[in-house]
Amino acid sequence: MKVIIVEDYDKMSEVAADILAKQITEKPNTVLGLATGSTPIGMYKKLVEYYQNGKLNFSEIKSFNLDEYCGLPKDNVQSYWYFMHDNLFNHINIKSDNVNMFDGEENDAKKACEEYDMAIEKAGGIDLQILGCGHNGHIAFNEPSTEFSKSSHRVELQESTINANKRLFADVSQVPKTSYTMGIKNIMNAKKIVMLVSGEDKALTVHQAFNGPIVSTVPASVLQLHNDFTLVMDKAAASKYVK
Ligand code: F6R
Repeated sequence: MKVIIVEDYDKMSEVAADILAKQITEKPNTVLGLATGSTPIGMYKKLVEYYQNGKLNFSEIKSFNLDEYCGLPKDNVQSYWYFMHDNLFNHINIKSDNVNMFDGEENDAKKACEEYDMAIEKAGGIDLQILGCGHNGHIAFNEPSTEFSKSSHRVELQESTINANKRLFADVSQVPKTSYTMGIKNIMNAKKIVMLVSGEDKALTVHQAFNGPIVSTVPASVLQLHNDFTLVMDKAAASKYVK
């Protein structure tokens, strides 16, 4: 694994956006795996800037998002569909037909997940997967103790994840309790993976995931096994990481 430690959140966002920009320039029909959450917002801002300055063209790009809450309609401001359109898709020239996200309103989990896995396969697999990292080490919504062999599935969110995400809802009772997520198998099948981590509050998680053993109780630790994995983090997140 390659580790890049930078001064702060802004620099992390820039470094990540530049990795994406390079990938898109070299392969204009790149299949991107994308994440939501607070961490990639700065990177998305940069990508929009690059597009507006004529540096990037998304017209042939396909995207697959990692996850989506169950039960939220697309136009709900808390849905990941809304987040992605608000932060990225509405501001670039990606084709709406090329944007893939789980349908949070689909009650048939088997159908939703099988179709998603098939769509990824049909697109030729994910070229570059962007990841954030949960405080409990989750990647996408693969919570601690999820089997590494799982592909897309529906999950019950853990109390710690519900609590971490409640800041974005009016109150904790409104945070959905289940979500659709790519599995660790989908993530590990990506040709290239870039994880972004920022802040002191993730320092212990980074240490456990990347200085410790590969264990399902810290899902992000599995990334140590990927042959093209880059961890981009700021100094605060790296403060407990031992090189
Ligand atoms: C989001 C996702 C999650 C987040 C993680 C970190 O699509 O898959 O795993 O990456 O919860 O979230 P933030 O960036 O808000 O700390």
